Amino acid sequence: MSDDASKQTKGQSLWGGRFERKPAELMQAINVSIGFDQRLAAQDLQGSRAHAGMLSKQGVITSADAAAILGGLDTIEAEMKAGTFPFRDEYEDIHMNVEARLAELIGPVAGRLHTARSRNDQVAVDFRLWVKATCEHTVGQIEALQRALLGQAESHVATIMPGFTHLQPAQPVTFGHHLMAYVEMFGRDCSRFRDAIERMNESPLGAAALAGSPYNIDRRLTAATLGFCSPTANSLDSVSDRDFALEALSAASICAVHLSRIAEEIVIWTTPQFGFISLTDAFTTGSSIMPQKRNPDAAELVRAKVGRILGALTQLTVVMKGLPLAYSKDMQEDKPPVFEAFDALDLSLAAMAGMIADLTPNTERMAAAAGAGYSTATDLADWLVRTLDLPFRQAHHVTGQTVKRAEQLGVGLAEMPLHELQAIEPRITTEVFSVLTPEASVASRMSYGGTAPVRVREQVERWKERLG
Ligand code: ARG
Repeated sequence: MSDDASKQTKGQSLWGGRFERKPAELMQAINVSIGFDQRLAAQDLQGSRAHAGMLSKQGVITSADAAAILGGLDTIEAEMKAGTFPFRDEYEDIHMNVEARLAELIGPVAGRLHTARSRNDQVAVDFRLWVKATCEHTVGQIEALQRALLGQAESHVATIMPGFTHLQPAQPVTFGHHLMAYVEMFGRDCSRFRDAIERMNESPLGAAALAGSPYNIDRRLTAATLGFCSPTANSLDSVSDRDFALEALSAASICAVHLSRIAEEIVIWTTPQFGFISLTDAFTTGSSIMPQKRNPDAAELVRAKVGRILGALTQLTVVMKGLPLAYSKDMQEDKPPVFEAFDALDLSLAAMAGMIADLTPNTERMAAAAGAGYSTATDLADWLVRTLDLPFRQAHHVTGQTVKRAEQLGVGLAEMPLHELQAIEPRITTEVFSVLTPEASVASRMSYGGTAPVRVREQVERWKERLG
């Protein structure tokens, strides 16, 4: 057995050729990453298989050696599936754990797998594969949430609710229209993830440590085998770039912001004071002391997750800031924030899709609230413009006086006696009452993208087609 092979079987470091003593325990403690980077196990095997296949095809290693390596990697995969693979701290990270185990299984030929490769390009390709697959998964999850929103929106294209600005009643809208706003937001999130996927779709494998490789490797082949469009074009950039992770975290953060906004609306809407929607027992919890309570915990937790996700973006941005080219060990700290953020996003998207499907709007309550707060005041002003040809500013003023008088009388605009209206503007006729209901207000908002039920239905149809 060669020196290296005996070192490996004795559990010493794979890089220990020039070292005489083992590292201090503290050195190992700070260096070890297997606790978290074992999540890259599948990608590490994928990368190694592509690399071994290419080395053999290029004649860098023999096909017999490649076959032994690929056989060993299959055994390792089976051990991982069975939960018997020994993840060991003394081998630091996932890459050296796999290589050490390979040596135990197939002997010194295992050492040929690392020809024309470094852990620097290895980790870069593994992590890219993971982030790319996760972005693709996230797109699917966002689309599932969009479908849940579309389902509710379709049932409620004409369900009246108050629209708000400053969380003050502004103008009536439909519940379907309100939900479709989120369909748009999540649509942009999908497009951001797709965009990021396109940019990260290059393989860093073969950049080796930093300068490229002297072997006759075929980087196009490994890129294609791994599902990338092309190899990365600069070896230094290949091993020191983590933009793909930063972009994924940026897209995740914006998506989490959107989730927190709809979560906040659910929290508000389920209060007895609003009472716009109810959630079933499936998505609420009780209080251990107050028996009457039904708390929207899932919505609150989704609202909070943005903290973790945005925190992860900040964390990785700070890790990367100021790093000289090329690889630095700082970059090992790239994985925990990404894993944490996407675990949180995964759960949040699923929980939100669940809540949206679960909720029932209290349509009477929403309609009543839509009529309150003089929400059709703008419709009165618009009527004065259209029918009496008042300049909008003047119509705004007349309407303001009308609201003031209605407040004094304690009635809504639609209940104002005609003579009271005429005392403010003598040319007002009974025709005005046809625009003062929330239904009329909503139906009149026919401009493209407006809340008129026909327009909302059009958008629902457009998105149904788009989501397939
Ligand atoms: N575990 C390391 C990481 O995640 C792998 C790369 C180590 N490279 C090195 N030159 N020490 O970044």
